[in-house]
Amino acid sequence: MTTQISISSSQGSYDVVLERGSLIHSDLYVAPVTNARRALIVADEAVTSTHAAAVSSSLAGNGWTLATLTLRAEEPLKRMEAVESVWHAALELGLDRESAIVSVGGGLVGDIAGFAAATFMRGIDFIQVPTTLLAMVDASIGGKTGINIPLPGLDVLGKNLAGAFWSPKLVLVDPNTLASLPQRELTSGLAECAKHAIIGDPSLAECLRSSAADLAAGNLASIDTIIEQAINVKRLVVEADERESGQRMLLNFGHTFGHAIEPIASLDLTHGEAVAIGMQAAAACSGRLGLASTARICSIGSLLQRMGLPAHTRESLPIAPLFEAMRYDKKAAGGRLRLVLPTEDGVVVRTDVEVADIEAAWHAVIPDAVS
Ligand SMILES: NC(=O)c1ccc[n+]([C@@H]2O[C@H](COP(=O)([O-])OP(=O)(O)OC[C@H]3O[C@@H](n4cnc5c(N)ncnc54)[C@H](O)[C@@H]3O)[C@@H](O)[C@H]2O)c1
Repeated sequence: MTTQISISSSQGSYDVVLERGSLIHSDLYVAPVTNARRALIVADEAVTSTHAAAVSSSLAGNGWTLATLTLRAEEPLKRMEAVESVWHAALELGLDRESAIVSVGGGLVGDIAGFAAATFMRGIDFIQVPTTLLAMVDASIGGKTGINIPLPGLDVLGKNLAGAFWSPKLVLVDPNTLASLPQRELTSGLAECAKHAIIGDPSLAECLRSSAADLAAGNLASIDTIIEQAINVKRLVVEADERESGQRMLLNFGHTFGHAIEPIASLDLTHGEAVAIGMQAAAACSGRLGLASTARICSIGSLLQRMGLPAHTRESLPIAPLFEAMRYDKKAAGGRLRLVLPTEDGVVVRTDVEVADIEAAWHAVIPDAVS
């Protein structure tokens, strides 16, 4: 079965094609959306010889001129050097303004490849082939690309602080690729699905709750429906506010808290795990401000934990450096933190949250935290 979801953007609308087994006939979907017949495939190391090879063989069999550049998907490597390596490989292959970059991998490689496509020769066609759940439902939808850059005076990278809006020509989702994804990464993607459910789709929350046991046992029969519903939440939000001046900020739910702890190596958190802890911190904050009832806060926590996501960090941390890291969050407004906090039936953006409330939220998710 093939599901097509059309997403409109100021750079033109594009389709998300959701079909099991689609990678082996990628050309069928890629060729009609671009004039390019020369492309650089930017492949996640974990899928170069499997899923990227399937895409490459379909395109090569239909006359494309191709090369594959393999990138290691590690967050500290998502920086300018990686983008330069894509530009260099593009030049070596002789790409020009009529060529394309095809990313095959998770959100990390997609963000790098997308930023390279947005900037190479001032922008060439970009095709996304996401192979993680997170990339399928979130990172590949909505045209955001970007890299991390070092924060002045701190020994950590600021997440996604440089980038571009660059819509893909096509997002080709083959849920069969998830069979090779480690369970922990699948769970990380479920955090973003849960985020979409909490923001605006109670039926997705129900579907996640009822599928939790199967998903934990590696049975992915229900994943196509989850992917489709989660993409549709993201579609509605990005179509309403492509450039993140309003509603799109809602997608940042859990991220301002999550981004502050994600780079801390000793915590060893995936993006989804950090965001899940961030969502629970935000929920605690809502509770203090009276924005959500105890029942709603508990239901957010129980959904995330049912997905196998952590409720708190596994070690204690001082809170002051977390405030420093939050300050650099690109959603800060005029020096004030912009927090997305759950309400009874959705989420709301607040810029007036007091330091004491944020501190209390951190205490709710960090055992024995030192203020
Ligand atoms: N652009 C956006 O709108 C947006 C939105 C959300 C997240 N992101 C970014 O996405 C990144 C996180 O993405 P992610 O969760 O996909 O992580 P990831 O890209 O780091 O991939 C996770 C791991 O899975 C491996 N992998 C990927 N596909 C696989 C497969 N099919 N089988 C086996 N292994 C596979 C990767 O090599 C990696 O080790 C972060 O950098 C985040 O900032 C971007």
